[in-house]
Amino acid sequence: RRITAEQTNLVLMGMPGSGKSTVGAILGKRLGRPFVDLDEEIVRTAGKPIAEIFDSGGEEAFRTIESQVLRQVSARHGIVLALGGGTAVREENRYFIRQNGRVYYLQRPLEVLSGEGRPLSKSPEAIRALYEERREVYQSMADVSVDCSARGTEEAAAIIAKEWQS
Ligand code: S3P
Repeated sequence: RRITAEQTNLVLMGMPGSGKSTVGAILGKRLGRPFVDLDEEIVRTAGKPIAEIFDSGGEEAFRTIESQVLRQVSARHGIVLALGGGTAVREENRYFIRQNGRVYYLQRPLEVLSGEGRPLSKSPEAIRALYEERREVYQSMADVSVDCSARGTEEAAAIIAKEWQS
């Protein structure tokens, strides 16, 4: 089934700290669309912060909630959606990410990524290891790769908005 451009979701994917949430909020305002942050929805559903979900149930518990919430959110239309850095890694999630979405991959150099407050990317080494694991998945899932290396979040949002409207 084909959906219209208006119904299509703009989905932001990329490493932790790549600016998905900030860029998503800017895009939502600019395009007059609801902005949904998957991590925030997970926190709301679980009723506790992400670090606590990891502490009590480990990564597996987090991924289970993440997949459930993704299914609900990806059924919506016309939203801007920021994924978590690991959402695309689970194969079962990939269908839902693509379902109503055009996927924008925010590419930022590893050196500028911040792992602050993120259980899986606490050190530069951990961030690098995650990236090595995920780069191929990101590349294969991306409809559009956005080079954010020398750009701030406002500029990245402007590039995506322009691509979207073209
Ligand atoms: C994760 C990234 C986080 C969050 C969770 C797991 C990951 O999202 O979903 O801590 O696996 O890289 P951000 O990419 O928004 O930090």
